[in-house]
Amino acid sequence: MFSPAGLTKDEVAGRTVFVIDALRATTTACAALHAGARGIIPVQSTEEAMRLAQTLGSEDVLLAGERNCLRIEGFALGNSPLEMTEGVVKGKTLVMMTTNGTKTLLACQGAAQIYLAAGVNLTRVGERARHVLEESGDMLVLCAGRENAFALEDAYTAGRVVEEALGGRRTRRGLNDAAIVAVDLVRRYGGRWERPFALSAAGRRLTAIDLGEDIVTAATQDRYPVLPIFHDRRVTAAALPDGGNGTGI
Ligand code: MLT
Repeated sequence: MFSPAGLTKDEVAGRTVFVIDALRATTTACAALHAGARGIIPVQSTEEAMRLAQTLGSEDVLLAGERNCLRIEGFALGNSPLEMTEGVVKGKTLVMMTTNGTKTLLACQGAAQIYLAAGVNLTRVGERARHVLEESGDMLVLCAGRENAFALEDAYTAGRVVEEALGGRRTRRGLNDAAIVAVDLVRRYGGRWERPFALSAAGRRLTAIDLGEDIVTAATQDRYPVLPIFHDRRVTAAALPDGGNGTGI
């Protein structure tokens, strides 16, 4: 699906969902976990973030997030993957609020499993997606999009995830219309993440506010090889087939 607009409980109930907000929420979550953050709690609003941080009341909690791509006043961190350094986030829990990404994650409650996907963890996501498809024959790739509408960078990333899930098979059987279009976008742009990312409205906004480095980071495939899973209100790094979890802790 190209956005969570109109998503119903029935569409997610019991399914495995891969949520994509490549610019930048799911990329940033991967960066934070890879740098050793203990977990990320996505919330709906700035007020909820402040309240929760107060309730948790620990030095180990950091507020992170954006409004219009800029750090929210009073928050320690924005929504840039480059802010998520080991020195800042290792061992910390992030309470995170972003315009589209965290909202989309929260809309998936009731799913059997919810993973966060981006270019920076594509191989990890692909391994899990292939396994899920083999086991159950079903998965949902859900783009956060932009203000409940199509976003090019997420749709392209969705196409890459679908291709990984299919493991090189060129069949379109079983794909819905959105997945067919997403795969067609991959045919158009090939392996060049940076093209659709920089061309997208989100990419142009980031360039305009001097955050072009975030596009380069998000476009670096497998830069943060972790598999974030959203479970029990918290995003953590899932265990990987090699026994580790790809993080700094
Ligand atoms: C979002 O959740 O809308 C995005 O991640 C926006 C951003 O780039 O900060």
